[in-house]
Amino acid sequence: MKHLLKLADLSKEEILDILDTADQLKKEKKQGIPHPILQGKALGMIFRKSSTRTRVSFEVGMYDLGGTALFLSSHDLQIGRGEPIQDTARVLSRYLDGIMIRTFDQEEVEALAQCGSIPVINGLTDYCHPCQVLADLMTIREYKGKLEGLKLCYIGDGNNMANSLIAGGITTGMQVAIACPDDYRPDEELMQWAKSNGEFLCTGNIEEAAAGADVLYTDVWASMGQEGEAEERKKIFKNYQINDSVMAIAKPDAMVLHCLPAHREEEITGKVLEAHADEIFEEAENRLHAQKAVLVKLLSQSRQ
Ligand code: CP
Ligand code: NVA
Repeated sequence: MKHLLKLADLSKEEILDILDTADQLKKEKKQGIPHPILQGKALGMIFRKSSTRTRVSFEVGMYDLGGTALFLSSHDLQIGRGEPIQDTARVLSRYLDGIMIRTFDQEEVEALAQCGSIPVINGLTDYCHPCQVLADLMTIREYKGKLEGLKLCYIGDGNNMANSLIAGGITTGMQVAIACPDDYRPDEELMQWAKSNGEFLCTGNIEEAAAGADVLYTDVWASMGQEGEAEERKKIFKNYQINDSVMAIAKPDAMVLHCLPAHREEEITGKVLEAHADEIFEEAENRLHAQKAVLVKLLSQSRQ
């Protein structure tokens, strides 16, 4: 593994290896055992979109591992004034040991990886959010003891979260069901891949998708960059909500996950969110541990 551009690039073994390392790093941190594995290493973090969890967990993660992290807002970098990503990649490769980037186009992340000579980590694009789903899988395994054979149901927009949940869920042997409106389906090519590689369903019928689910998942109806569509989307997604009726269709011990930020009474009721707050905030914490595992895998092999 040279980069983390999207989860579909990873094998089941690679994902499980990251989760095992994340569990170990979490245990050590809780016990106060230091693990300065990336001493002297520097991670650049390019942000073209806002962030709370990704920014703070990567920064603290590098600190925990003995390295350092630089927050690079696109408003301050020359890429914000049009410097090509190809040149930025070649320059930053000479200063840093790795780059995390949050941006709009998946192609920009791929170009950064292709033109630079250091590992690149996708911190969210319009297409996918691999770091989030590694933390999600870690949390599911923590609560349920396994991934294989569990039913994961995602309700809402067929967006970056849906795409990464399909890739991560199917690769690790989960059954994945997506409930979304017809015009807001996940990536078609990815869904074809999911159908040929596991048990996958995409439907407009929430009851069908949620029936017997072990894990229910949702995300905002309007993602970053779609603020102008927010009012229209509220009407389109009105019924795509995790609420008591949906909980009644899932397994009685179903867990609820949300990548956050959450919009109460839109994609999830405040009642369901608060009833499952332990799982949801453990999931947020696990961003730190899962990303530290990714950093160890990618940066401990990079330039000394
Ligand atoms: N879930 C997530 O990526 O959160 P941030 O946008 O706060 O980083
Ligand atoms: N789909 C959301 C995820 C935020 C973590 C967005 O892209 O804004």
